[in-house]
Amino acid sequence: MPLETPSFLITTAIDYVNGQPHLGHAYEKILADVIARYKRLSGRRVFFLTGVDEHGQKVQQSAQKEGVAPQQFCDRVQADFRALADSVGIGYDRWVRTTDPHHKAVVRSFLQQLYDKGEIYLQEYEGFYSVRQEQFVTEKDKVDGEWPEIFGEVVPFKEPNYYFRLSRYQEWLKQYVLDHEEFILPAFRRRDVLNALEQPLPDLCISRPRARLEWGIPLPFDEQYVTYVWFDALVNYVSFARGTDANGQPFDYWPADVHVIGKDILVPPHGVYWPIMLHALGLPLPRTLLVHGWWLNSGAKMSKSKGNVVDPKAYISAFGADTFRFFVTREMVIGQDADFSDQRFVDLYNSELRNQLGNLVNRVVSMINRYREGVVPVYDTATVGVQEVPLRNNEAVDGWRAALDNYQVSTALQEAWKLVQAGNLYIEETQPFKLAKDPAAAGRVDLILAHLAETVRRITVLISPVLPGTAAAIRTQLNLADVPYAVEDALFGKSLALHKIGEPSILFQPIEIVDGVPQIVEVKKKVKA
Ligand code: ME8
Ligand code: MG
Repeated sequence: MPLETPSFLITTAIDYVNGQPHLGHAYEKILADVIARYKRLSGRRVFFLTGVDEHGQKVQQSAQKEGVAPQQFCDRVQADFRALADSVGIGYDRWVRTTDPHHKAVVRSFLQQLYDKGEIYLQEYEGFYSVRQEQFVTEKDKVDGEWPEIFGEVVPFKEPNYYFRLSRYQEWLKQYVLDHEEFILPAFRRRDVLNALEQPLPDLCISRPRARLEWGIPLPFDEQYVTYVWFDALVNYVSFARGTDANGQPFDYWPADVHVIGKDILVPPHGVYWPIMLHALGLPLPRTLLVHGWWLNSGAKMSKSKGNVVDPKAYISAFGADTFRFFVTREMVIGQDADFSDQRFVDLYNSELRNQLGNLVNRVVSMINRYREGVVPVYDTATVGVQEVPLRNNEAVDGWRAALDNYQVSTALQEAWKLVQAGNLYIEETQPFKLAKDPAAAGRVDLILAHLAETVRRITVLISPVLPGTAAAIRTQLNLADVPYAVEDALFGKSLALHKIGEPSILFQPIEIVDGVPQIVEVKKKVKA
């Protein structure tokens, strides 16, 4: 089927279901969703994959502990991940589950193809095994010549397993990374992959005997084994990008334009295993691995095992999806780590959302209602002066676009806020609420209100990838809810002259920390224009 517009395939990591979803998981999905919304706004046909990773030792153990079958355990926990994604407005096209029969068939077919090509071979492994940790250990794991306590009993071990010939492609991959600057973003992360390729790359053990691990996809050429979880998980990006749609039409969006992942899974899985797997299969590589940093809690990585995770659910239900989306994408600079703090959450909300954006919209919609009966005035272009310049140029839009084209969402928000700030400054400088009392200044007031209406209209476009609900609420106040819009509508020029707008309503209630918990407080007085 010919694609009428160029498509854009975007994916996130798929989350392990052996714990509850946390801030880190939510952030990554929001980041990908912002990019997906921006690309749709730019006219691209987006296909967006996200979901969960269900196989493996840890899931099998968690299910065992609860005394339920692994599939039953997965069915329950995946629903929590999906509910979180839905609650925060993630507009995915397919919800990935690695227990899906189509996915399993694709994994098996890839394994068979690689086996037939001689890329996979059987070899006896000789080494040591930690019974307590259920993992292979090597001499390198010894501390001062002793096995550390956490391994418990360590026994000599012999086991035949299947290996994938990574080593064959080491030089090819190194050259590929060097030749493709856009393959790993941000740029400084390329070093991590290149460093890993400085050492000889061992072949990858891709099998686990079913006697030890039952919860996985059996190898098609030896059913006594299941495949290693990464070999299963990575394939989701292809297996879910291909298929048949509801009308029976086949589709194929591969290769991905961007895989959004955290820095802990760049090396080796996404930066080494995945490109080599694809290359060995004769498939094209993803264009970009977009690697984000970690959300920390008081300087420590949030993780299930540390028990210091921030649960996004409470913030989303108290303050809405948009507020949460705004905080995480504004606060984290892609590639860097960020610390979650309630104080920062409250400060950013009150200053940028409530005092800057909320206030601007409220003043503009209120003034047009109060002074012009809700109709955006026509103005005499000959009266446009130097004060209007910041609201008539496209600098903020250019900066916003450039930032989003490079996946720099935090920068894009700061660029969009330049227009918000310009709007507020313009009101302070021109004082339309004073001029409105002077009949002789009517023409000047028309010009000011028209420029402000136009500015608010443009801002709805700029904020929509991050704040879709807020953009829609503002467009309702402008009586533009049913008017479709695209990236170009952020540019100055589509005047709202003679358009009847709607009523003002408060977008953001103030939040304060009360007894250590951020909460919405009563509005003491109405925001006046
Ligand atoms: O790694 N801050 O699953 P996962 C930011 N199933 N991001 C974080 C984070 C934090 N504190 N903690 C986790 C897996 N993440 C595999 C992926 S992909 C084919 C298979 C991110 O549940 C992490 O970096 O451990 C990863 O991108 C994603 O959440 C899922 O992590
Ligand atoms: Mg992890």
